[in-house]
Amino acid sequence: ASSDAISSALLDWYDTHARDLPWRAPPGVPPPDPYRVWLSEVMLQQTTVAAVKAYFAEFTRRWPTVEALAAASDEEVMAAWAGLGYYARARNLLACAREVAAQGGTFPDTEEGLRALPGLGAYTAAAVAAIAFERRAVVVDANVERVVARLFALDTPLPGGRTEIREKADAITPEARSGDFAQAMMDLGATVCTSRAPRCLLCPLSAHCRGRATGEPERFPVKAPK
Ligand code: ADE
Repeated sequence: ASSDAISSALLDWYDTHARDLPWRAPPGVPPPDPYRVWLSEVMLQQTTVAAVKAYFAEFTRRWPTVEALAAASDEEVMAAWAGLGYYARARNLLACAREVAAQGGTFPDTEEGLRALPGLGAYTAAAVAAIAFERRAVVVDANVERVVARLFALDTPLPGGRTEIREKADAITPEARSGDFAQAMMDLGATVCTSRAPRCLLCPLSAHCRGRATGEPERFPVKAPK
C-alpha cells in the first residue's frame, strides 16, 4: 500500500475519532499554545492520559504561561508535581521553562531548536515540532512503535528493531497535518491497536496491515528475550 493511502485513511479516521483531550486542538483547528503542548508531552512521558488530566489542569491554572512557570520556585513546582513521579522530569521542566523565558518566552519552532532545550529528548522535540508548529517530524512513542511494527509485520526484536520502525514511521509521515497524524497514530495505538487484543475490525488501517494478515498481530512488536 502506498504511504499516501495509509496516512489519508488514518487522518480520515482521526477527523471523527480523535480523543478530546484538554491539551489538544480538535482536528483541523490551529494548534494550541506550544507551552501547553510541551507541558502535556512532558507529563505524558511516563504517566497515563487519565492521570495527567488533573495535573495539566492544575499547572495551567497556576502557571498559564511559560514565563509564569519560570518564575515559580523549585519547591512550588516539585510540590505540584508530587504524584506524577520521575522527579527528574519536574527539575528539567523548570530548567526548560527558565531557559525559554530567558530567550524571550517563545519556544523554538523547529525540532532541532527544541532538542537543545533542557529535558527535551528526541520524542518530545519531534512531538512539539509536529503538534505545536505543524512541522513534519517523525514522532515515535510506545503506541506508535506498536502500530508501525504491526502495520509492516516488522519482526526484528526490540530494541534493535527500533531503527526499522523509525524508517517505516518516517515513510508514512505526511508533509501536511503532521500534528494530527502524530496524534492519530497515538490514539490508534491507545484505543484500537492495543497491545493485548487489537480491535482490527475497527481499524482504519486494517486493509493495509501486514500484521493483521499474519493472523497474529499481537505478536508485534517482537521483544528480545530477557
Ligand atoms: N501521549 C503522549 N502524547 C500524546 C498526545 N499528544 N495525545 C495522546 N496521547 C499522547
